[in-house]
Amino acid sequence: MSLPSDPDKANTHLPNVEIREMDIDDLAAVFHLGELLFTSDLYPYLYRTWDEWEVIGMYNTDPEYCLVAQIEEELAGFVLGTIISKASWVYGYIIWLGVSPQFQRRGVADKLVDKIVERMIEEGARFMLVDTDPTNESAVKFFTRKGFGNARRHVYLSMNLSKHEFYGRLITYERDKADRVRQRHPKRPQQ
Ligand SMILES: CC(C)(COP(=O)(O)OP(=O)(O)OC[C@H]1O[C@@H](n2cnc3c(N)ncnc32)[C@H](O)[C@@H]1OP(=O)(O)O)[C@@H](O)C(=O)NCCC(=O)NCCS
Repeated sequence: MSLPSDPDKANTHLPNVEIREMDIDDLAAVFHLGELLFTSDLYPYLYRTWDEWEVIGMYNTDPEYCLVAQIEEELAGFVLGTIISKASWVYGYIIWLGVSPQFQRRGVADKLVDKIVERMIEEGARFMLVDTDPTNESAVKFFTRKGFGNARRHVYLSMNLSKHEFYGRLITYERDKADRVRQRHPKRPQQ
């Protein structure tokens, strides 16, 4: 499932896509495009973890792996990634990828991923990682076509903490505290 892209435009690659490093003026636009793409109904996990600090944080720690696609003056897409060094292995990790619905199926993600992979190879990466929601067909197809494979399913569990015993005790404590304050400072009767 994904936001609908324009079927008439499918496969007509855009010639005028510029891939460049994200700069400070792009932060708000990238955040808002992510908000449009990573919605709670389509991809709840992506929705929960996407916020402005994600964009600001990655721009702060990994500016060379924060790339945007620009078409004329418009933001068409972005990719945010990082490098993980573990023992003698260096992994490139694509954390976020998004293309504006009006520019989807026109090769924008293709160009973004090609560029970030080149940068990561230059930096010593010999392995690429990416993850997404298993129901995210467009992303799974996209990455498979780019050569990613060996998919493993990852299970995300959640718990409603309002049902947790400690949460119940905290509510009781706060309620008792409010009662004690009320008893110490009773309201004056209305004249
Ligand atoms: C996944 C996504 C980034 C692809 O961007 P894109 O610019 O449309 O991708 P491209 O045009 O480069 O697509 C290349 C190939 O990917 C596959 N693909 C992309 N979108 C697809 C779709 N909606 N349905 C089926 N296959 C799709 C196709 O194989 C396509 O090749 P084709 O057009 O020749 O058939 C885009 O759909 C998107 O932003 N999705 C929402 C955000 C998201 O899920 N991000 C990934 C997880 S962080």
